[in-house]
Amino acid sequence: VSTENQDVLRAYEWLTKLYHHLLRHTKEGKEGYQYLIDRGFTDNIIDTFQLGFSPSSREFIVQFLEKKGFHPQTMVKAGLLSMNDQQQISDRFRGRVIFPIRNHLGKSIAFGGRSINNQEPKYLNSPESELFHKGKLLYNFDLARSNIRKKEEAVLFEGYVDVISAYKAGVTNGVATLGTSITEAQAKLLRRYVDTVVICYDADKAGIQASYKAAKILKNAGCTVKVANMPDGTDPDEFIQQYGGERFKTEVIDLSDTYMSFLMRYLKRDYNLNLEGDRIQYVESVLDEVALIERPVEREHYLKELANEFELSMDTLSQEIQARRQKIG
Ligand code: GTP
Ligand code: MN
Ligand code: MN
Ligand code: MN
Ligand code: MN
Repeated sequence: VSTENQDVLRAYEWLTKLYHHLLRHTKEGKEGYQYLIDRGFTDNIIDTFQLGFSPSSREFIVQFLEKKGFHPQTMVKAGLLSMNDQQQISDRFRGRVIFPIRNHLGKSIAFGGRSINNQEPKYLNSPESELFHKGKLLYNFDLARSNIRKKEEAVLFEGYVDVISAYKAGVTNGVATLGTSITEAQAKLLRRYVDTVVICYDADKAGIQASYKAAKILKNAGCTVKVANMPDGTDPDEFIQQYGGERFKTEVIDLSDTYMSFLMRYLKRDYNLNLEGDRIQYVESVLDEVALIERPVEREHYLKELANEFELSMDTLSQEIQARRQKIG
């Protein structure tokens, strides 16, 4: 680690503490604290995740950093501070609740800042740097790792709030990608620790689309994939607020769909199964997916489901699978 990067790491560590202190114990952080409490966060959770607040005033954080001997230019370069067209330096997260993004050793290496008064963008992340590569990091992996091992399962969320809300509900094996779809690197990292990954993204159009992509990537990395099924339009945090943590565990996580059940549910959305042509196309698209499954027992299981639902013979379906598998090679 270069001297400059060491400075940046120290600044992140120090700022994490400062933001957290301001939120918990000062009037400058009161609106951030109130925002989190209103959303159901507890003091204990706020401390565990070192949540903080950056005061709205332009100079507040800059002055603290300067007093501590951190170079404003270095901080700007690292993305901790930002500079406007008039060369004024200020904290890029001012007025936002701070979610420290920890690396796998538990050190802050970036921040996510959430606006609390409906300003856009809703979330602002630190820019990528030599220390922070979005596509390689899983949020909360440091705290979740031992629980992932114990439960022999990891849960993949869309955002920090979902991870934290689930953690509070006892689902302590949750991690999140940072606003982007899961990468191959992240999938491989998970696979080193666990076989089964439950995808628990938002049940909206974007989330379901992203679940499909993530399922493929995780499957390719060798994971056993499951996908949670939540009421339309809700996200994990909203579900927990509305129905409680116990139901989240027993109804959403424990009853999540298998990979193929999810694919079938997903593919169905594109078809009107009352129409003959659509029914055939749907069956064909499911067969394409079943043909990719390696275990014969698993293939047969889904073929039986299809045979029953669409009154087709197992012979016909098996032939279709054979043809597809020959093509794949
Ligand atoms: P809340 O609205 O606070 O409950 O957060 P959420 O997790 O429900 O947010 P959402 O489902 O909209 O987004 C999930 C994740 O995508 C967030 O945790 C962010 O990492 C990312 N994200 C969402 N909105 C933005 C944005 O405007 N900018 C950036 N950079 N990332 C975003
Ligand atoms: Mn504290
Ligand atoms: Mn979302
Ligand atoms: Mn959401
Ligand atoms: Mn949400």
